[in-house]
Amino acid sequence: MEQEDRAAFETRAVTAGEEPFRVGSEAGDVTTPIHLSSTFALPGLDTDLSLEDVDPDRGEFLYSRLSNPTRHALEKRLASLEGGEHAMAFSSGTAAIFTTLLSSVEPGDHLVAGDDLYAGTRRMLESVFRDRLDVDVTFVDGGDTEAVETAVTDETVVIWMETPTNPRMTLCDVAAIAEIAESYDVLFGVDNTFASSYFQRPLELGADVVAHSTTKYLNGHSDSIGGAVVTSDDDLAEEIGFQQQVGVGDMLAPFDSYLVLRGLKTLPMRMRQHEGNAMAVAEFLESHDAVTDVYYPGLESHPQHDLAARQMEGYGGILSFELDGELEDAKRFLETLEEFTLAVSVGGVESLIELPAAMTHEPLPREEREAVGITDTLIRVSVGVESVDDLLADLESGFAALDTAPVAAND
Ligand SMILES: Cc1ncc(COP(=O)(O)O)c(C=O)c1O
Repeated sequence: MEQEDRAAFETRAVTAGEEPFRVGSEAGDVTTPIHLSSTFALPGLDTDLSLEDVDPDRGEFLYSRLSNPTRHALEKRLASLEGGEHAMAFSSGTAAIFTTLLSSVEPGDHLVAGDDLYAGTRRMLESVFRDRLDVDVTFVDGGDTEAVETAVTDETVVIWMETPTNPRMTLCDVAAIAEIAESYDVLFGVDNTFASSYFQRPLELGADVVAHSTTKYLNGHSDSIGGAVVTSDDDLAEEIGFQQQVGVGDMLAPFDSYLVLRGLKTLPMRMRQHEGNAMAVAEFLESHDAVTDVYYPGLESHPQHDLAARQMEGYGGILSFELDGELEDAKRFLETLEEFTLAVSVGGVESLIELPAAMTHEPLPREEREAVGITDTLIRVSVGVESVDDLLADLESGFAALDTAPVAAND
């Protein structure tokens, strides 16, 4: 990407959606205030109350479930950064994905999804869409574009992918799948949580809709749960907006909208620091005897490194690796660390580490986990923005603890 465009992203991360002299603002705040009001005074009884005629862009608001000034400012920024026309902010990434899919399928339809999705999304597809709403779901390896095309049937209405995936950091070729989706007249949605809008913009590669858990990089400080959907498809945006406001009634609260607006201002610099640290951690791990594999798209050893270089503008801050040993070794390693906190979630400024088989992906049956490469010794790391020297020293202490462990690495 050209430097001017990158600079534009950094500028828009700070300014998009900020309107100090917006209608109704008397003080000229340079940051969007937190509008807590649940409802808004109407100029008179003859006001047109139909949803279509209340226009937040003109400073008109009716009721905060429908639209709220703080959330509206955030939605404008999210749309701008993701390169789309419309954005909607939800109370979680899960709600954003659920509402998008609900807006796109009917009973009897078929959906193709990546087999290495966030475990919660996979469970939603199985227990809500397949078991309750009669929507058939086929899980495929998103990294295998041919397999994705083969899975499409006459009933398919949506292809849903994550790239990179959680936790194995597998990529799908967004532009190639977008072409397939277009040729079969199927909606193509991408969960862009792991890369963030800074490092990857699937809409520009041909996807129809993008979802985020803003809980992760977009907010970036591990202090808010939220989600977002961005699309340039007017009809889809209208349907998702209807489901958000009327069907499901799910939206991001004003305080959390403010937090994400604030977090986004530093997204570019946070992402660059996350990435620099993650690359150093990945290289360190790759050179260590107690590690058999490292999964990070920035490493040349990653099987899809070329695809990552093509469709991403950076490789992000999340990686996973395979420890040479048993489950007990992995536990001992994790429990020794001090700078890496043992916790689920990713994308905050602090480094987090977890064991997917025992934590995030524990609800999945073992055979489903193993089919996508989640072994008992696969460790996922969300590399934060701390000093990389401290992080590497901490990992070294984890490896040192293995040497003294009763159950040692097996060679
Ligand atoms: C890739 C991805 N998508 C969606 C979600 C769900 O987001 P939330 O926890 O905000 O509902 C997560 C959560 O970990 C995730 O990692």
